[in-house]
Amino acid sequence: MSSKPRVYVTRRIPEEGIDILRSCAEVRVWPHRLPPSRDVLLREVGEADGLLSLLTDGIDAELIEAAPRLRVISNYAVGYDNIDVPAATARGIWVTNTPGVLTEATADFTFALLLAAARRIVEGDRETRCGGWLTWEPQYLLGADVHGATLGIIGMGRIGEAVARRARGFSMRVLYTDPNPRGDLESALGIEPAALDTLLGDSDFISLHAPLTPDTEHLLGPDAFAAMRRGTILVNTARGELVDEAALVVALRDGTVGAAGLDVYAEEPLPADHPLACLPNVVLAPHLGSATVGARRDMATMAAHNLVAALSGRRPAHPVNSPVSS
Ligand code: GLV
Ligand code: GLV
Repeated sequence: MSSKPRVYVTRRIPEEGIDILRSCAEVRVWPHRLPPSRDVLLREVGEADGLLSLLTDGIDAELIEAAPRLRVISNYAVGYDNIDVPAATARGIWVTNTPGVLTEATADFTFALLLAAARRIVEGDRETRCGGWLTWEPQYLLGADVHGATLGIIGMGRIGEAVARRARGFSMRVLYTDPNPRGDLESALGIEPAALDTLLGDSDFISLHAPLTPDTEHLLGPDAFAAMRRGTILVNTARGELVDEAALVVALRDGTVGAAGLDVYAEEPLPADHPLACLPNVVLAPHLGSATVGARRDMATMAAHNLVAALSGRRPAHPVNSPVSS
């Protein structure tokens, strides 16, 4: 019997991460495209000292109770709303995430969605492929100006800041809300703090960069949409549950929200017959914010280093809890 700790990895991740894990642990990797079932997870954590999880794995109290040897849950994501962190802390288990390495990739993708929704790129692609493009027309597929417009950023963490930097290049005015005022950035980037209602009423574009918590769930619902300027464009690369999707569908239909660029949904994958999928003024992406070769490789090595540190009795570099009193 090997004395090496056992690690379970819930999906194939870039090899650089697996190599780091194999240097100090016996590693099992779930080999399929779809996530492991609940039964598989319950069985595998029963033996594991370390778990490398994805945002598609619900790591709740029952699962944590089923893992008597577990010392670390290393989430392959910056968000960790899929994990019951208090339950892990109570059991002395580290929970870690991968902040920073996906910030720029996610901000790039946010701008891709913003531009695609504003300038109707996906509608244009459909027209070009399907014979809808008859000739150059003065009033064909007109969109919204991005340059010079006002962008409201909800959540000025790392990703919100990276989006604000990009907005400067488009000569946008940037308003933001965040529970922690960012005076440092206000002068450095020329961004302005605003109350949520002011931000909603004054922005041409609104982009979400807040974590999902009980306080931010359905942050944008019917009242928020009613407070927006008519035709505001919404971008969400954070978490689907920040938005009341039923209210968003109503607002997109009646034009309160002019268009949306969405990467995240309350239910993922988005059901093909979801009302959002039937609207022309929505650009839909399948949760690709951090999906670049570089970001996913760096997430893999960061998640692996976090896990190895905890198994070696060291403090991981990116903890989201502090389970050990020192
Ligand atoms: C992706 O959504 C992440 O949280 O990393
Ligand atoms: C993620 O890196 C964030 O804190 O915005």
